[in-house]
Amino acid sequence: MPIRINPSILSADFANLEREIGRISTADLVHVDVMDNHFVPNLTFGLQMATRLGEVSALPLDVHLMIDDPDRWAPAYAESGAYSVTFHAEAATDAVVLARRLRSIGARAGIALKPGTAADPFLEILHEFDQVLVMTVEPGFGGQEFMESTMPKLRALRERVSGAGLDVWLQVDGGVNEETIAIAAEAGADTFVAGSSVFLADDPLDRIASLRAAAAAAEHAH
Ligand code: DX5
Ligand code: ZN
Repeated sequence: MPIRINPSILSADFANLEREIGRISTADLVHVDVMDNHFVPNLTFGLQMATRLGEVSALPLDVHLMIDDPDRWAPAYAESGAYSVTFHAEAATDAVVLARRLRSIGARAGIALKPGTAADPFLEILHEFDQVLVMTVEPGFGGQEFMESTMPKLRALRERVSGAGLDVWLQVDGGVNEETIAIAAEAGADTFVAGSSVFLADDPLDRIASLRAAAAAAEHAH
């Protein structure tokens, strides 16, 4: 299984985001956390910033929408050229309708689950999505501790995706570092968001390499 490392610019220098994206050139995608101060108690940036980041980034954008009413707002991120647009299951009115809309615009459609949100209602409709984001912290802030309690949910998703031969990426986001990435890889994740671990490292490229190696070793172990 290919392993993807998606650094989150939430922990980057907001005054120099173009330069910060230049520091992670060996990453697979750039994870862009959009927060509206309603769905989560924090505020970052919106469509205009995501569009501009997409224009200056050599890497494709992995947009994570932590916002209310994604049915209304998410399609514009797909239209702006985001490679992948992930919205929260808890906020969407009709996740399948929205995912189909995102795909029809040409983006990969992702659905995100907060730690307390079960995957069960989605297990039979995973083919409607290109990615499932299992939140491994409560969404809203970087630098929190990885919640191992979310791993049974990830295992259930992996079992279903592999069992049905689906091409759905399984992403973890929150508290991913050189230790916890092994836990998530072993449980079945193939796509790893890391904010503080990458951007607060002295050498982000070194850190991306060590995260990748740790994930590969754990994945091969099972
Ligand atoms: C949190 C965001 C994450 C955040 C992860 O709500 O969705 O993408 O940047 O940060 P770390 O890796 O520091 O936990
Ligand atoms: Zn995120």
